[in-house]
Amino acid sequence: MSRTKEALPLADAYGLLEPGPVVLLATAHKGRRNVMTMSWHTMMEFEPPLVGCVVARSHYSHELLRAGRACTINIPSTALADAVVGCGNTLGSEIDKFAEFGLRTSPASLVQAPLIDACHANLECRIADTKMVASYDFFVLEVVAAWIDPRRRNARTLHHRGWGAFMKAGPTVQLASRMR
Ligand SMILES: Cc1cc2nc3c(=O)[nH]c(=O)nc-3n(C[C@H](O)[C@H](O)[C@H](O)COP(=O)(O)O)c2cc1C
Repeated sequence: MSRTKEALPLADAYGLLEPGPVVLLATAHKGRRNVMTMSWHTMMEFEPPLVGCVVARSHYSHELLRAGRACTINIPSTALADAVVGCGNTLGSEIDKFAEFGLRTSPASLVQAPLIDACHANLECRIADTKMVASYDFFVLEVVAAWIDPRRRNARTLHHRGWGAFMKAGPTVQLASRMR
C-alpha cells in the first residue's frame, strides 16, 4: 500500500479507465425506436471492426437492441452535451427522446436504427455475438457501415469520468506509429 495514495472507492475505478467518447446508441424495431447514452464500450478488432459494449438489461435500449439485432453508434461533440446527459437520464419506455432532445435523424443504409444528424460520425452496427449478454449484458457488435462529416473530423468529443463528470477532448497530437 502506497504512503502517498489513498484508497479509491471501487465504484470510482471506472472513471480512471474511461474508454473513449461518450456515444448515443440508437435502436429500432417494428416501429419503436430509442436512444441512450453509452460510455462502456471498447474496440475489439480492426476489420471487420468489432465493438464490445454493455447495455444493461434494465434499459429499454437492451430490449430493442436484442429485438432488432442492430443499432447505430452516434458520436456527439461537446455541443450536444445536454442531449447526452438527457438521453442518459431518461427512459425511452416513457418518452420519445428524439423529440424531447431535438435529435433529428436520417435513415441508415443497412440497419433499421436511425442515424443522428447532429453527430459528426455514425456507425451502423449489427450484433455479432451475444455469448456474454447473459452474464454481463455485454454485446459484441460488428460495424457494417460508417459515416463522418468531413468538415468535423476532429470534433471535440465528451469523455465520461464517472458520476456526472466529463472531460472535453483536447488537441490532437500526431506521434510515431509503427502501424499504418
Ligand atoms: C454518461 C453516461 C454514460 C452511460 N453509459 C452507459 C453504458 O455504457 N451502458 C449502459 O447500460 N448504460 C449507460 N448509461 C445509462 C443509460 O444511458 C440510462 O440508464 C438510460 O436512461 C437508458 O435509457 P433507456 O431505458 O431508454 O434505454 C450511461 C449514462 C450516462 C449519463
